[in-house]
Amino acid sequence: MIILGIESSCDDTSVAIVEDGHQIRANIVSSQEKFHAKFSGVVPEIASRRHLEVIHFLVEDALAEAGITFEDVDKIAVTNRPGLVGSLLVGVSAAKGYSYAKGIPLVPVNHLAGHLFSVSLEKKLEYPLLGLLISGGHTVLVKSESPEDIQIIGSTIDDAVGEVYDKIAKYFGLGYPGGPVIDKLAQVGDEKAFSFPRSLLDKKKHLLNFSFSGIKTAVIHQRERFCQSGGSDNLENIAASFQAAVADILLEKVRRAIKETGIKRVAVAGGVSANGYLRERFSQAHDFSSFFPPRSLCMDNGAMIAGVAYYMSSELSAAESITLDAYSRVVERSQFTGRLKN
Ligand code: KG4
Ligand code: ZN
Repeated sequence: MIILGIESSCDDTSVAIVEDGHQIRANIVSSQEKFHAKFSGVVPEIASRRHLEVIHFLVEDALAEAGITFEDVDKIAVTNRPGLVGSLLVGVSAAKGYSYAKGIPLVPVNHLAGHLFSVSLEKKLEYPLLGLLISGGHTVLVKSESPEDIQIIGSTIDDAVGEVYDKIAKYFGLGYPGGPVIDKLAQVGDEKAFSFPRSLLDKKKHLLNFSFSGIKTAVIHQRERFCQSGGSDNLENIAASFQAAVADILLEKVRRAIKETGIKRVAVAGGVSANGYLRERFSQAHDFSSFFPPRSLCMDNGAMIAGVAYYMSSELSAAESITLDAYSRVVERSQFTGRLKN
């Protein structure tokens, strides 16, 4: 079965062709990084406009790269939540148009289900598994029985991890996105120079939830309070100490989730899963097994959307496709758990 996947939830436009859920025949990503860099963050209005400019060309390029035409496409998959609504709507409208005009069924896909599947795309994972989804927009812990059966068991109550990377980088004038720069600086830094707070929240109320606003404030505004004797205040040390605190928090929450669920297989995905230090810390853990996507599939891409759609049981017929809408959130504010919707 050949699925064409469209992803436009944030600032990357991507179209992919995936066969039988795992064979990537094309995965074209058009990054908008350079348009947002000068604002040190994604500007929603610019993002939507750029998606609109390239999306149809990417569809044509992906089909050409896979050596097929729309005649060969069995289904179209599109991210319809969560994300920036203006951005999502570009992908959703394009997908609806192709579905209706070409008579091809349409599969709505939750972006987070796509990220989780990115770990299983090239090498199939066994289920059930725990998922730690860490990106610029989300930080969630999930329990997954199958690619489409995903239960959120913990979320951030404030900032997402990637967002904190980006905000810290913005403060220090390191550009956007912040993750890769901080990752690189940290390689030569001393992670013991600062002892930043590891906020784990109240165990009764927030056993599996995360909070990252405290560490962000500590790094940006109260650094001197956390500097250890002998530690010097340079960017490399700040980056390394920040990452050490983030990894400690993530590992502690994962271990709590393992204790709660008894599941010892952990898939880590989303943009932040590209982080070298985090990969190392997870690989050093011997009490559970961890799996990461190849770096090429960590950031937003259409392949993960087309891949996971292969396992989705619900779809819209071509005639119904025009009813599909886009939604910005995964779960309501103040609600930290729930089944992932498509
Ligand atoms: O999944 P993604 O491409 O988009 C969202 O769905 O948000 O993730 C983007 C995020 C950004 O915050 C970026 O700074 C972060 O992933 N990121 C990293 C690394 N590469 C990207 N964070 C830490 N280390 C990295 N190497
Ligand atoms: Zn993403």
